[in-house]
Amino acid sequence: MAVTSNMFKSMMKRFSSGVTIVTYSDNGKMSGITVASFCSVSMEPPLVLICIDNSAYSLKGLQNAGRFGINICNTDQKEMVYAFASSEIDKNKMIKEEKHTVTKMGVPLLDSCLVRMECKIVSQHVEGDHTIFVARVEDGKVNRENEGLVYYKSKIGKFTENE
Ligand SMILES: Cc1cc2nc3c(=O)[nH]c(=O)nc-3n(C[C@H](O)[C@H](O)[C@H](O)COP(=O)(O)O)c2cc1C
Repeated sequence: MAVTSNMFKSMMKRFSSGVTIVTYSDNGKMSGITVASFCSVSMEPPLVLICIDNSAYSLKGLQNAGRFGINICNTDQKEMVYAFASSEIDKNKMIKEEKHTVTKMGVPLLDSCLVRMECKIVSQHVEGDHTIFVARVEDGKVNRENEGLVYYKSKIGKFTENE
């Protein structure tokens, strides 16, 4: 039985995840993209992966940058999640207006996010209509006062522990 794209979406959206904003600087121009397809790959060395749509504007930007920031979103950041998921918005301006830090290696990180990681791309794999970026985590910070945002069935919410 062939899996239709509707069936594939219907299955995948029932897998809950967090949401990240992947930030980068392409020749001095900062940008970012909302990404839910983020996960850890290896502990030693610390590796993560993200999957980027081959039609996303950010694909070339990430390839040019060679590095990116993973900013894990907290429960207050729904608006930011949807803003970075839009191609219409000037993301360079948006990052400038947000409290942010630029690392020594030139990666912009969003100070308000729950976790910020600086990552260096180690390999890229084109698979179907997406490109998988595997990256080494080189530095990071945790904001222990907030809680992580949850993405489930195309909606954004909070985690509740079972009794
Ligand atoms: C919650 C959420 C999660 C998303 N996850 C991904 C993802 O993992 N990979 C991806 O390529 N796009 C993902 N997107 C879509 C991109 O954020 C969106 O296509 C964006 O407009 C691309 O920006 P760009 O074209 O400026 O690079 C997600 C969008 C939302 C709202």
